[in-house]
Amino acid sequence: MAKKSIKQVEQPREHNKASKIKVSLSINPIFDKHMNFLILNGPNLNLLGKREPEIYGRSSFDEFFATLQHQFPEHAISYVQSNHEGDLIDQLHQHGFDMDGIVINAGAYTHTSIALADAIRSITSPVIEVHLSNVFKRETYRHHSFISEACLGVIAGFGMHSYVLAIQALILKKQTSLP
Ligand code: DQA
Repeated sequence: MAKKSIKQVEQPREHNKASKIKVSLSINPIFDKHMNFLILNGPNLNLLGKREPEIYGRSSFDEFFATLQHQFPEHAISYVQSNHEGDLIDQLHQHGFDMDGIVINAGAYTHTSIALADAIRSITSPVIEVHLSNVFKRETYRHHSFISEACLGVIAGFGMHSYVLAIQALILKKQTSLP
């Protein structure tokens, strides 16, 4: 009887050891850093949910954005959509020196805009290019991106999850010293 009660005391101690390790990881300042991210959506992406749903899905970006913010409660994520190339460039200039990362879906400007590529090259915040669809499975004119070369990386083909993966990649990049 007495032995049993000793065992019962020991188990929580072991458990405490594990939870102490967890606590020390979570108070690591690198892991706890609050980050600011901007999502920039280009032309026709205001029509997500209505536009070619068989390709782009049935959810509006606003609906998705609420769940995205929920998934990263410790970080601030804002988003801007514009159908105008110059507006997207202005947003990059305005936020591209203080954001921890920018996620851009430039829509069709991906395949046409040297100006957007130059704007991405001109700023210091890391930029990830995303696409809902796998552009490489589609028309050949979608296979070339002018902006990829200026971006940290490209994520395509995962629907709205492409944005989640991009935010995760930016966080991982900040938190680790991996190349
Ligand atoms: C897109 C792919 C582009 O080719 C297209 O012009 C878009 C959406 C995507 O998210 O899959 O507008 O960027």
